[in-house]
Amino acid sequence: MCGIVGYIGEKNCVEVIMAGLHRLEYRGYDSAGVAVVTDGALKCVKSVGKLKIMDKKLEDNPLSGPLGIGHTRWATHGAPSEVNSHPHFDMPMEIAVVHNGIIENYQELRNELQKEGVTFRSQTDTETIAHLVRKYYTGDLFVAVKRALQDVEGAYAIGVVCKDHPDLMVAARHGSPLIVGLGEGEAFIGSDVPAIMKYTRKVIYIDNGQVCEIKRNSYKIEDIQGNPVQLEVKTVDWDDAAAEKEGYPHFMLKEINQQANVIRNTLRGRVHEGSEEVNLPDMNISLEELRACQKIVIVACGTAWHAGMVGKYLIEKFAKVPVELDLASEYRYRDPIVPPNTIMIPVSQSGETADTLEAIRIAKSRGAQVASIVNTVGSSVARESHGVVYQHAGPEIGVASTKAYTSQCTAFALFTIWLAETRGAMEKAQAKEMIASLRELPDKIQWILDNQDDIKRCAEDPKYRDAQSALYLGRGYNFPSALEGALKLKEISYIHAEGYAAGEMKHGPIALVTDELPVVCVATDGDVYDKMVSNIQEIRARRGIVLSVATVGNEGIKAHSADVFYIPECFEPFSPILVAVPLQLFAYYVATNRGCDVDQPRNLAKSVTVE
Ligand code: M6R
Repeated sequence: MCGIVGYIGEKNCVEVIMAGLHRLEYRGYDSAGVAVVTDGALKCVKSVGKLKIMDKKLEDNPLSGPLGIGHTRWATHGAPSEVNSHPHFDMPMEIAVVHNGIIENYQELRNELQKEGVTFRSQTDTETIAHLVRKYYTGDLFVAVKRALQDVEGAYAIGVVCKDHPDLMVAARHGSPLIVGLGEGEAFIGSDVPAIMKYTRKVIYIDNGQVCEIKRNSYKIEDIQGNPVQLEVKTVDWDDAAAEKEGYPHFMLKEINQQANVIRNTLRGRVHEGSEEVNLPDMNISLEELRACQKIVIVACGTAWHAGMVGKYLIEKFAKVPVELDLASEYRYRDPIVPPNTIMIPVSQSGETADTLEAIRIAKSRGAQVASIVNTVGSSVARESHGVVYQHAGPEIGVASTKAYTSQCTAFALFTIWLAETRGAMEKAQAKEMIASLRELPDKIQWILDNQDDIKRCAEDPKYRDAQSALYLGRGYNFPSALEGALKLKEISYIHAEGYAAGEMKHGPIALVTDELPVVCVATDGDVYDKMVSNIQEIRARRGIVLSVATVGNEGIKAHSADVFYIPECFEPFSPILVAVPLQLFAYYVATNRGCDVDQPRNLAKSVTVE
């Protein structure tokens, strides 16, 4: 949440910062600001609302210079307003700070600073940092930031500049992500790689408790006590085009349409044609550990948690290992039991979700082996885990998670086969068949994508577009599909939607069914198909609007449904990977027909780095 960009070099920093902020707008978009050190002064422009308003303001109030920091905000403390937007300043307005995170002891710090005579301008926690840096500033900004941070509790990634230092930017991190980018005679800071990908591929991932002094041609990293730290400079291999819309009206639609290739990438190098073996060496779990494993714990949030549910169903069915699935936000506060030989699998697209990170720390401290499923290379979840399966989905910019979900489910399918074979729970022949089924998924996804016009047309129908509420039902492997379909619709269209296990329908939600309620029923071919048809009949009997997701060739279901979306025939346990696609498209088209901004939905941010 919140995006930070900073620049020092020959270019006009405002252009670099604004380009970076646009790349990070998915992190927060209720206000923005830029501060520039130029001609011995600190100048600033701020605006409320999305970045396009800031672009306009900068057109009217041009700002330029070789050094600056910028911020796009997702409000935590203090309502979105110009005064609460970053950068924040010390009293004489000579030191500027941008911040992502939450300063937990800010009220205490604020009281103390006020007693010392400081006047605050905003209601934010961040402003305390600016005043603290000023308090400890005696001419050396690096020293002052390190000292200030010793007083601070909570999570932060910060960028700091001072009018006295036109050649220096200081950045620090604890709990919130921060990278430093290195160019030729220039340097960058950013919350995430896409912010600076246009300019450099050389990146340093700053770690917790570290502070970096950044000049055009050099940098120095220390911990907040002043001990030197050496960090590796990594080369990022993402293609810059990956962070552009490439002709699509929204990132979400681009990312939905990328899924055939995404799944190919998730499978690439891990399974081969005709083979019965899965290679996941980076998971860093030995065959002995896999065989000895007594329990698997999956933790995640939101969509990643739904992927975790697909993982649970697959692992228990085929590898016969008990799986506990927990919301990371619950796991961290419920004193979980971690028996010996427990493997934890955290799932996270961003790799920066605060609750997931805390769940990892708890499980590690209680002896679990942690192997995560993560999309963002070098992210905190990846680094804090013993091993990782990278999803290779490429940057996901749309706030609604789409391609990350299907690739997480695919990663679970790979892990399941590997685990089941290693433990002797699966014959080689079955592994071979399952791998062949996995390898067919990209073409099947492409078939759904090629037929998306039907879904688009259907989403224009007022009975869906103008619905107040919707119910999603699924059973077995597709119960998580119901949860995920409902989440997609509600988060981008603001239609209230609930996902339910279809078997639970008569235990409550059936009371909601009227002739105005769309009920999306996942009724693809498989063991629970007949049960789903019974649910559909019950909904029809109460005049509910049934929208079925069925397998190609099932013409009969049309008689019971107002509309049908088809997926190609597939191995039932992998059907959630296909079912997700029409449900994503449906949510997307309903939301755009309602005029919603699907890439930046109300109140949401892409990555939840605070509790
Ligand atoms: O980055 P993560 O996968 O850890 O994020 C988890 C959730 O915040 C995320 O999936 C969220 O639910 C999405 N907005 C759903 O579309």
